[in-house]
Amino acid sequence: MANYKIGVIPGDGTGPEVIREGLKVLEAVSSKFGFKCEKIFYDFGGERFLKTGETLPSSALEELKTLDAIYLGAIGDPRVKPGILEKGILLKLRFELDQYINLRPIKLYDKRFCPLKDKEEKDIDFVVVRENTEGLYCGSGGFLRKDTPYEVATQESINTYKGVERCVRFAFEYARRKGRKKVTLVGKTNVLTYAFDLWERVFYQVAKDFPSIEADYAHVDATCMWMIKNPEWFEVIVTDNMFGDIITDLGAILQGGMGIAAGGNLNPEGVSMFEPIGGSAPKYTGKNVINPLAAISALSMMLEFLGEEKAGLAVEEAVIKVVREELKSLSAGKMGYSTSEVGDLVVKYL
Ligand code: IPM
Ligand code: MN
Repeated sequence: MANYKIGVIPGDGTGPEVIREGLKVLEAVSSKFGFKCEKIFYDFGGERFLKTGETLPSSALEELKTLDAIYLGAIGDPRVKPGILEKGILLKLRFELDQYINLRPIKLYDKRFCPLKDKEEKDIDFVVVRENTEGLYCGSGGFLRKDTPYEVATQESINTYKGVERCVRFAFEYARRKGRKKVTLVGKTNVLTYAFDLWERVFYQVAKDFPSIEADYAHVDATCMWMIKNPEWFEVIVTDNMFGDIITDLGAILQGGMGIAAGGNLNPEGVSMFEPIGGSAPKYTGKNVINPLAAISALSMMLEFLGEEKAGLAVEEAVIKVVREELKSLSAGKMGYSTSEVGDLVVKYL
């Protein structure tokens, strides 16, 4: 019987509440499909930082590299200056584990929860392949003459051939594996004439290896418009780290909000990490009202990437049933059920 070693980082705010429901579902689905999961818990987050000054110790990082996958709740604590935990934990994990893809499916399960008029389930079904280790997120830049009227602040977007190539190739391979017909590069070639010149050249070069898949391009600003006006045009979007961050929040609301949006930080050759993409939602912490379905959907993605495709699919199907047949809303406090009741419902439908 397969036995997976899963690192669990519940993290901050409502993270622990949603991870608890995810693990409840994992328990049920693993016994149903006949595999085991050994869970190793890590207490990284705001609380530990405030007590010890430590974000992510390097010994833990080495240990994480030996696991099969990581399941993460949320990182972010209003008591800590913005950037410290995000950079010190979440981004550090993505970078150090070389999770170079951030895969974010945008799928509408029930049109009642879509904010767009005249759009239904079949219209909103695409994935964003976000580059996850480069671009503006590298932390390259700095201050000159700080705190004077002559201050200069720079923040550089770093794009490497290797980083762009592996991301674009992943997008095309993913499209082929999932039977998708089109990959759209989202960029800003009319202004970012270095960074997206590289992206564009690599994109059309890689596209040649996938003659049956259409290669398309859209500027990021226009993409924001099309995502609202004609979301059905998109199948697989590939884009850089910053644009991917921005358009996936827009994508999340198309599928009904942060309560349902999940993602995977993937290193196809190493250890991947799965998370609900909404934040730690401090104002809902401890109230048992947050929607755990994003975390449960992240679990479904994790199962697929572990090679337990049937189990992953079963979890997704159960989530769809709960969304369609039970919930009044996907938002915290309005679901008609508590966080733990929604977890129980998923288990019931499994
Ligand atoms: C996300 C988040 C993170 C990001 C933050 C918390 C650093 O917004 O996962 O989309 O910008 O990548
Ligand atoms: Mn984001």
